Amino acid sequence: MPQPTRRHYLMCRPTYFTVTYAINPWMDPSAPVDPARAIAQWENLRGAYHALGHQVEEIEPVPGLPDMVFAANGATVIDGVALAVQFRDPERADEAPAYRSWLERAGFTVHEPKHVNEGEGDLLLAGDQLLAGTGFRTAHGAHAQAQELFGYPVVTLQLVDPRYYHLDTALCVLDGTVAYLPEAFSPGSQAVLRRLYPDAVLADPVDAAVLGLNAVCDGGRVVLPIQATRLAAQLRARGYETIGVDLSELRKAGGGPKCCTLEVRR
Ligand code: ARG
Repeated sequence: MPQPTRRHYLMCRPTYFTVTYAINPWMDPSAPVDPARAIAQWENLRGAYHALGHQVEEIEPVPGLPDMVFAANGATVIDGVALAVQFRDPERADEAPAYRSWLERAGFTVHEPKHVNEGEGDLLLAGDQLLAGTGFRTAHGAHAQAQELFGYPVVTLQLVDPRYYHLDTALCVLDGTVAYLPEAFSPGSQAVLRRLYPDAVLADPVDAAVLGLNAVCDGGRVVLPIQATRLAAQLRARGYETIGVDLSELRKAGGGPKCCTLEVRR
């Protein structure tokens, strides 16, 4: 039976959230965004974590950084070791020092990235392995740096669908297994995932298309987009409790619950 554990998350209120540039296929600067609704949806996500007993800290949002709400991209923190990020796109570059200084103030020694590295968007700890996405954002070289720094074997996974540009949009780490959308990965990476996780939950493309896989599992409970109803049923059939949240405004930037959540592993 999947067992939850208490987690420590970092989040960033979407005070300055909007869509003014397009760096992934979800983003359409001509489509309207409702900022008040984005904030209400984000507060609901934060409330869900509180209700589950998790510790949530907040980083001060910075004006002019509309994507800063996506805290997962702010760093990778494992066993008290923090690796800062380097964004592919100049529009997000200034988020990196903001997250770095939060981590420093929180007492972490922060290591500098040597390559494009979008943090937990592409680097997901799964038990004693680090699943690492590449193809759109995080560079392959960042995988090697993460392996050396954290001392967890890295499994490189090649993303091939631009809608699923970060690993956390195509794969969700569960308890001892994962849920993923096979067609978001190259044939070789699909074979790797089948070999590592023969019992994985295979997501329906319809659920992936509402960013259903951008979910947060604490070992026993999964917080996921409420629109991903089939995925929720698949997870419940495996013994997980599911908590649906509506982040439809943030999805206009290509983000969901996991994007808004950086796990801080002391
Ligand atoms: N607009 C942001 C970008 O394209 C969304 C980031 C979503 N974050 C994530 N962890 N998938 O960079």
